[in-house]
Amino acid sequence: MAYKWRHSIFSFISQTLDMIDRESKIYMNIAILTSGGDTPGMNAVIRAAFIQCKNYNHHLVGIKYGWKGLIEGITTEIPSTIIDNIDEGGSILGSSRTNPYSVDNGLAGIRQTVDKLGIDAIIAIGGEDTLGVANKLNHDGIKIVGVPKTIDNDLDATDYTFGFDTAISIATEAIDRLKTTARSHERVMVVEIMGRHAGWMTLHAGIAGGAHVILIPEYPISMQSVYKIIKQRYDSGHPWAIVAVSEGFGFSHEDAVESEIEMDEFGHVRLEKLEVGKEVARRINEHLGITTRSVALGHTQRGGPPSAYDRVLTTHLGLKAVSMIDDGKFGMMPALRGTKIIPVKLEEAVARLKTVDEESWQYAKNLMFLDY
Ligand code: F6P
Repeated sequence: MAYKWRHSIFSFISQTLDMIDRESKIYMNIAILTSGGDTPGMNAVIRAAFIQCKNYNHHLVGIKYGWKGLIEGITTEIPSTIIDNIDEGGSILGSSRTNPYSVDNGLAGIRQTVDKLGIDAIIAIGGEDTLGVANKLNHDGIKIVGVPKTIDNDLDATDYTFGFDTAISIATEAIDRLKTTARSHERVMVVEIMGRHAGWMTLHAGIAGGAHVILIPEYPISMQSVYKIIKQRYDSGHPWAIVAVSEGFGFSHEDAVESEIEMDEFGHVRLEKLEVGKEVARRINEHLGITTRSVALGHTQRGGPPSAYDRVLTTHLGLKAVSMIDDGKFGMMPALRGTKIIPVKLEEAVARLKTVDEESWQYAKNLMFLDY
């Protein structure tokens, strides 16, 4: 009996001391930044990280404008109102496409900010460019965890990146709307969907929207096949069609005049200059004599609130990123594998660009009756 009493008094005291210790001590100063093209769900990640930092008694500081802000030491406090903003699009921290390894004193600037602000660890929310930088910074001794974001879904080592589901929902809705006007006017509507090197968005939105032709960078169909599919529809009593084309679809490169091409800081061609959708529409009209219109969805795919799926995914990612820092899992990112979020090495995520695989393409090809 006496032993039992002693034991419960002892565990009560040690639990209370634990609690006091946790509440009185800021364990870590964690910085968070968003970099690259903005993506619906960025704020939801920041929100989840903010909540998890509160749970663990860490302090979360916001870095403005991605790597640019980290180099220049531009910070902001995360407002507690973030808790109510799971649905807010864009990023409260702003973003940029600055690459610290291609600007003078980029790394030195980052080291200075880290030292000056006493940053223990960084959460970098970004796509392949951002996480490529995060990977290098990890090798350069900066404690960092990534969070996989991009509407393009072209980051490896995770089943899906956040933002993709929202972007394809927007594109699918656009296709649904274009279908009714195409049918009324017996026209071909060409819809240009974002994606410079990977056709995931065009593939998924094209399938979901029931597009008749899907044109993606990885498996370029010849324009002769495109004409054949459309002609067959018209000849068989369906005088309208939807063509979904990725902004990075192949022939635009061949047709582009060298002087028209602009590169971003990561050496990517800025393809919006080439207006591939317009060119596909022009060729269809010229070859088949059918009235054709084109619509480029562009940044509407990146704006507005995240889908329910992306809200849940980003919440899990934000919570996990902080837990990973707590566990010292640096140079890694939380990744979606099946229904689980697990830590994977950044190295694995950025080793190659995840483009559309042969099997996924075959599904789309079957839907286009290419082999009739
Ligand atoms: O990487 C995301 C993305 O939206 C691409 O799909 C698109 O090609 C690019 O960013 C557009 O970049 P920016 O916002 O700089 O015009």
